[in-house]
Amino acid sequence: MPRYAHIIGWGMYAPPHIVTNDDLAKRMDTSDAWIRERTGIAQRRVASEKESTAAMAIYAARAAIERANIKPMEIDLVIVATVTPEYPFPATACLVQSAIGAERAGAFDLEAGCSGFVYGLAMAAGMIRSEMHNTILVIGVETLSRIVDWNDRATAVLFGDGAGAAILRASEKPGGVLATVLGADGSGGELLILPAGGARHPAGPETVLSKMHYVRMNGREVYRFATRVMADAAQIVVKRAGWSLEQIDLFIPHQANARIIESAAKALKLAPDKVFVNLQNYGNTSAASIPIALCEAVDAGKVKPGDRLVLVGFGAGLTWAACAIQWTAAKPGAIPLPRAATSRLRYLLAGLKALGWRLQRRADATVSQVTEVVEREVETKTRKVE
Ligand code: ACO
Repeated sequence: MPRYAHIIGWGMYAPPHIVTNDDLAKRMDTSDAWIRERTGIAQRRVASEKESTAAMAIYAARAAIERANIKPMEIDLVIVATVTPEYPFPATACLVQSAIGAERAGAFDLEAGCSGFVYGLAMAAGMIRSEMHNTILVIGVETLSRIVDWNDRATAVLFGDGAGAAILRASEKPGGVLATVLGADGSGGELLILPAGGARHPAGPETVLSKMHYVRMNGREVYRFATRVMADAAQIVVKRAGWSLEQIDLFIPHQANARIIESAAKALKLAPDKVFVNLQNYGNTSAASIPIALCEAVDAGKVKPGDRLVLVGFGAGLTWAACAIQWTAAKPGAIPLPRAATSRLRYLLAGLKALGWRLQRRADATVSQVTEVVEREVETKTRKVE
């Protein structure tokens, strides 16, 4: 029997703090009119100190788990797509895995720029189809505000923070993620880059002084690349799914620039009502942009069972990725209060358990250190007596 990978849960988190174009115009030489006209962005969300990448990923994951109505213990794998991880290591996915109490799950981060979430969906669907796993949590999350130079008008106006998550589950019922396309062109790596903090330029006073820990982008070249690959990738994935372009019910592109989206929609001959756009509210949230858009589209009733969705991302790498999904989940009602309360209790217990293990590890280390000292002392004394 063939296996299919269905999306059974989805969730998102957007930091409450809003920064409008006018707010930016107060601190740099830009204007609301320029930003709206060139990008389509009106505002973005910016994370507070407490809203780190892991924290936002955990909020989105919990929402997706509740929608899916599953227990965290049912999750086999956690994949986090991000270019702004909590730390270079350990993986943000491991922090999420522990916080939600997904004790049976493996976990790793995936770095494919703004295409990361769609890369994650492709990996999850492949693992489910090959019977390696049954239930996989895929998250796209970014805290880009931490790596943006707030004095560089060419990049600061574009980006925002947030997280989106999806839960995929195996089923014999046809539908779900039907086809994927993954692409890369590393020759364009320097067009969108965070130059320092890795092995090539480890962090040091010089890298800080020369602002090498901020995003650097050749906007025009990225724009040219994006308009080319978006429509191409969508066309290929539609063909692989056995559909025609006219059968697309909703196109959910990476939310980077309204003009890039319009150009792709034009090439694909899609009417505006078949294209989901929410970048006016969030800016470019990189790996989080597609899952946030997917959540908002579903919750706004724009997606119903049987609909054919096409998701397309592009970004740093350079990378691109597309995914054809036949939607199968019904729009759920409100989550009943007892279920929400049980979940909260479950996460509290997961936190306490993780704390318990941490303390146990510390206690074990102390005991073994003390034992070592005592053993050495006894050995020295025994030798002296002999
Ligand atoms: N406010 C006012 N003026 C500005 C601003 C600003 N924020 N930024 C640039 N300008 C000026 C420039 O200095 C330039 O002035 P000049 O003509 O006197 O030299 C003028 O506006 C035009 O600049 P361009 O860079 O040519 O503007 P363009 O129309 O190309 O728009 C933009 C720039 C919005 C960055 C566009 O190139 C773009 O969207 N590129 C794609 C970027 C993208 O999608 N990146 C994300 C990739 S995904 C990921 O992995 C993160």
